[in-house]
Amino acid sequence: MSIGDNGRPVAAITGASSGFGKIYAKRLASEGYDLLLVARREEKLLETTKEIKQERDVEIETISADLSVLDDIIRVERRLESIPSLRYLINNAGFGGNQKFPDVFIDVETKMVLTHCLAPMRLCRAALVPMKAQGKKRDAGYIINVSSVSGFLAGEGAADYTATKAYLITFSKSLQCDVGRFGVRVQALCPGFARTGFHDAETMRYSNLKETVPNFLWQRADRVVDASLRSLRRPFRPNVVCIPTIVYKIAGYFGSSWLFAPLRILLSRGTIR
Ligand SMILES: NC(=O)c1ccc[n+]([C@@H]2O[C@H](COP(=O)([O-])OP(=O)(O)OC[C@H]3O[C@@H](n4cnc5c(N)ncnc54)[C@H](OP(=O)(O)O)[C@@H]3O)[C@@H](O)[C@H]2O)c1
Repeated sequence: MSIGDNGRPVAAITGASSGFGKIYAKRLASEGYDLLLVARREEKLLETTKEIKQERDVEIETISADLSVLDDIIRVERRLESIPSLRYLINNAGFGGNQKFPDVFIDVETKMVLTHCLAPMRLCRAALVPMKAQGKKRDAGYIINVSSVSGFLAGEGAADYTATKAYLITFSKSLQCDVGRFGVRVQALCPGFARTGFHDAETMRYSNLKETVPNFLWQRADRVVDASLRSLRRPFRPNVVCIPTIVYKIAGYFGSSWLFAPLRILLSRGTIR
């Protein structure tokens, strides 16, 4: 039996080997979705598969793919296009960095742009093929692009990260304008700090955020995922942008509203207006 057989709904999740992606996989499996799980580390994907299969009677397929490589992205696209009952695409794969320009590792920054921008854009198009073919006016499909509250902010050592996450916010809003008419809902999820594998990744080795960010600013990853799914399924037109928790809603507003411009200028010693 393979995923989506007999029309069973399928959820495709990138970055499913850890963190938010793994939690989305468990949540959607518990609702009866078959899963297509994507990430680079095959052994971690198999671990996730085994954990889910112990508890849920769903079909799971894994694709080991590096979403900073075009050939791998295209391989995932082809599979998405071929699943008639695809209901969810969760573009979650991503990583951080904290090098300041010009002393960045330019290959890593390039991979970040490809993974955070190019891959989600192309995978959205591919997923929309079966979603649009549903011919429905509602509930044809759900797309979550995992951005970050930092997509509203700016700061040292995060030029590429904040910019790629801002891309996902604007992309998601405009995408919703295009696809709402055939029953697809889009979300840009904007979490703040959450304890996942994110801060232990190799690209974050010079970061001391884990030690310096106060406890009250850390969100539980499972609560972020629950807030995302709840918001996406609201019966009345939900917001495209989902920022879980009030602290980060304020942070997002702080980074984007003219009302906070004086404070932004003050805190950044005049470098950000
Ligand atoms: N945790 C936070 O504080 C936080 C806050 C705001 C936003 N976010 C966003 O949340 C998303 C998920 O991160 P997380 O917090 O759950 O961190 P995580 O536990 O490190 O998970 C990241 C996932 O992305 C996958 N991934 C990374 N680069 C990839 C690539 N080139 N190709 C394919 N898969 C790749 C990783 O799998 P492999 O290594 O196996 O490929 C892993 O499954 C990211 O987009 C991140 O920017 C996180």
